[in-house]
Amino acid sequence: MNIAAFSSLLTSTGPTSFWLPEQASTNASHIDALFMFILYLSAFFFVGIVAFMIYFVVRYRKRSATQTTSPISGHHGLELTWSVIPSIILVGLFIWGFRSWMDLNVPPGNAMEVKVTARRWKWQFTYPYHGGIEGVDLQTKVPTLFVPVNKPVKLLMSSSDVIHSFYVPAFRIKKDVLPNRYTVVWFEATKTGTFDVYCTEYCGRDHSTMFAHVKVLPEEEFNQWVESGGGTGNLSPVEFGKTLFTSKGCNACHSLSADRMNLPGPPLGGVFGKTETMASGESVKIDENYLREAILEPNAKVVQGYQPVMPTFKGSITDPQLDALIAYIKSLK
Ligand code: CUA
Repeated sequence: MNIAAFSSLLTSTGPTSFWLPEQASTNASHIDALFMFILYLSAFFFVGIVAFMIYFVVRYRKRSATQTTSPISGHHGLELTWSVIPSIILVGLFIWGFRSWMDLNVPPGNAMEVKVTARRWKWQFTYPYHGGIEGVDLQTKVPTLFVPVNKPVKLLMSSSDVIHSFYVPAFRIKKDVLPNRYTVVWFEATKTGTFDVYCTEYCGRDHSTMFAHVKVLPEEEFNQWVESGGGTGNLSPVEFGKTLFTSKGCNACHSLSADRMNLPGPPLGGVFGKTETMASGESVKIDENYLREAILEPNAKVVQGYQPVMPTFKGSITDPQLDALIAYIKSLK
């Protein structure tokens, strides 16, 4: 490796950097400061102790076969010094470390909350306080945690199978994600951009593919993203509806063709514009208003031959998402 390549390795902050990755959260600089302090303190003592050792080896070497060493006795002053000074440094490090740890573990009261669900081998980000939208980059299909810049974000995390670990190097946060209980971590991003999320607990065959992104947006763009129901603006309503059809779980009960396929809900292929008989005997035309009601209040008008088993999506679906889902159902032939 030549000097230029080596020095660029040392100074780069990208994912392959030799040194620490870029700092993109309010906590990152505190954590790096503690890390660097410990690193330089250790380096200082390592170099100092080794230098003394070498000096003593040379200075007090055996000069002749008959030479005897002088008797060694204790030195209280020295012993106290090398006990007390390191103790003070240790206590200082403990206090510094404990405070950083507390900072990392106690989210500010005004933090925005996002639910993180880990399963083999996928991250899922849902926004219970933003209409239940889901964070996915709709172009690349990569699970993406969308957040506003300069706002504290609290992550409420759980796993639906084994232990995973949520790690964002640029934010210096890492926390295990456990089944059957919640863990919490928080951050405040200081830079806009896209940052990597890794799973850092070995969780099975595809552990290494279990990654996601954090997309830090200016607050305005984040609000637009929320208002669009989690869309990116580049997708047509039909395409957006198609992603929602899967992410909201509609596909578990409704087939896309005109056949029932043994599913609990009515098939949706070609259903738009038809007139169906309801359980009450009433005939209803399947139009936008019927679909809207069927999603928000599924048991108001159940199609004949079906059980009233569909859960309501009221409160967990936004208006733009409803529009997109209806547009998608209309498009099904
Ligand atoms: Cu999930 Cu490793």
